[in-house]
Amino acid sequence: MGHDQLEGDAGPGLVPGRTLVSAEQLAERVAQLGAEITVDYAGRSPLLVGVLKGAFMFMSDLSRVIDLPVEFDFMAVSSYGHSTRSSGVVRIVKDLDLDLAGRDVILVEDIVDSGLTLNYLRRNLLARNPASLEVCALLVREDHSVDESILRYEGFRIPGEFVVGYGLDVDQRYRNLPDIRVVEQASGVEVAEAS
Ligand code: IMP
Ligand code: MG
Repeated sequence: MGHDQLEGDAGPGLVPGRTLVSAEQLAERVAQLGAEITVDYAGRSPLLVGVLKGAFMFMSDLSRVIDLPVEFDFMAVSSYGHSTRSSGVVRIVKDLDLDLAGRDVILVEDIVDSGLTLNYLRRNLLARNPASLEVCALLVREDHSVDESILRYEGFRIPGEFVVGYGLDVDQRYRNLPDIRVVEQASGVEVAEAS
């Protein structure tokens, strides 16, 4: 994983810095993904499965640019370990309500970092016998370690820096930013003031 410089607990000293993906770039790419999905699933009604909480904003916007009768479900997972790194040990905090058997499922994720969460979720969902299962990830880390072939739809490839906004958080904050920003250490003055 590429954001090792943030290893350790994220504290109040971490703040959104420069914009990596603007709101305009997000809207344009999400519209393209929606158009692709609309074509690929023509005549079917895919079930969008969102991974809470990070995917909520992406899934909301994506669903509005898919011109098909989609259905929604959500699951919440928590990954053991500290706030800026996934340990790969995933616990299902909220399971799906709907039966996946025979459904065309699109798993909607905020970011594939190491890919450990995605690998776990794919195995878990495939065991429920969907007719098909594809992945739609807004962000994919350049150095992820999942099989490329499972990343059917992806928004942006990004480098190792930890990012927030458009659903993504650091310690539950900054999810409501309309763009994707790189997290930075606050200046010494701000850290001193906060403590
Ligand atoms: P993975 O299991 O290493 O792929 O981690 C995936 C999860 O880690 C994502 O669903 C996010 O919740 C979280 N994550 C990884 N990188 C970032 C980031 O840069 N910002 C916010 N959350 C992240
Ligand atoms: Mg997440």
